[in-house]
Amino acid sequence: MKNTLYQKDIVSIKDLTRDQILTILKLAEKLKKKPASNLLNNKIIAHCFFEASTRTRLSFETATIKLGGKVIGFADPENISTKKGESLADTIQVINSYSDLIVIRHPKDGAARLAAEISDKPVINAGDGANQHPTQALLDLFTIQECQKKLAGINIALVGDLKYGRTVHSLVEACALFDIRFFLVAPESLTLPPQLWNLLKANNIKFSFHQSLDEIISKIDILYMTRLQRERLDKTEQQAQNSQHILVPALLTKAKANLKILHPLPRVDEIDPTIDKSPFAYYFQQAANAVWLRQALLTLLLNRSLS
Ligand code: CP
Repeated sequence: MKNTLYQKDIVSIKDLTRDQILTILKLAEKLKKKPASNLLNNKIIAHCFFEASTRTRLSFETATIKLGGKVIGFADPENISTKKGESLADTIQVINSYSDLIVIRHPKDGAARLAAEISDKPVINAGDGANQHPTQALLDLFTIQECQKKLAGINIALVGDLKYGRTVHSLVEACALFDIRFFLVAPESLTLPPQLWNLLKANNIKFSFHQSLDEIISKIDILYMTRLQRERLDKTEQQAQNSQHILVPALLTKAKANLKILHPLPRVDEIDPTIDKSPFAYYFQQAANAVWLRQALLTLLLNRSLS
């Protein structure tokens, strides 16, 4: 079968069809069950991290090295020539000539799209401002499918900063391609942007807004917690910190037995650490899944055909 992901840019979830998403999840599952070692032989992956990252950068790096590829790049924009005034466009143009694929994280919305327009190699958006984080959404779907054994028919609560949380924006777009029902729990000033409500409506996906975790906890299969993106809040929005939802063990007494708690991490104070050892906690397994999912994605983008 033709690999329609070969040499593709992954800037937004909208760049992918439902079938392409399922292909990525299927290969990730296969690689997790039976790890491979040579699918990225002779490939050089450039990591351009203009913003802090632990999981995304290091899981891409682990994924690449374990598949026989090599990594170049930077984790701190203070140490590259943008400090001397070089533009993002020129930086990408040059790195494009050194590598087979570019992974970029940038604080500005749209930076990854610009990089994809300049580069003739595949570009993966590893998070641009408050906009998108498509590979996190793919790994979230992979993890939901793993812990619930299905995607269709799932009830998921998205909790926290739904306005600036880019992982939420990508996850909503991804889930809109499946039959997933949303409960949106956020301080009023940090609710989901209206363009995403419209997307859900257009896809006939059910969703509702809530101010309390307690009123929905018994109905959900996935509790997706997020941190407040404090670095992006304006002065009025900072007051939302007072109405932030904190997950404590008492709130889980009415949870369904199959409930799993996910979080893209980093966690700040929105999940009480005593929950980490409960059977509901699945966020560290989710972070570990990043390696398999990113291996699958890199493999599909860089190999015309797979035997
Ligand atoms: N989930 C996520 O994007 O984590 P990092 O910011 O540590 O990469």
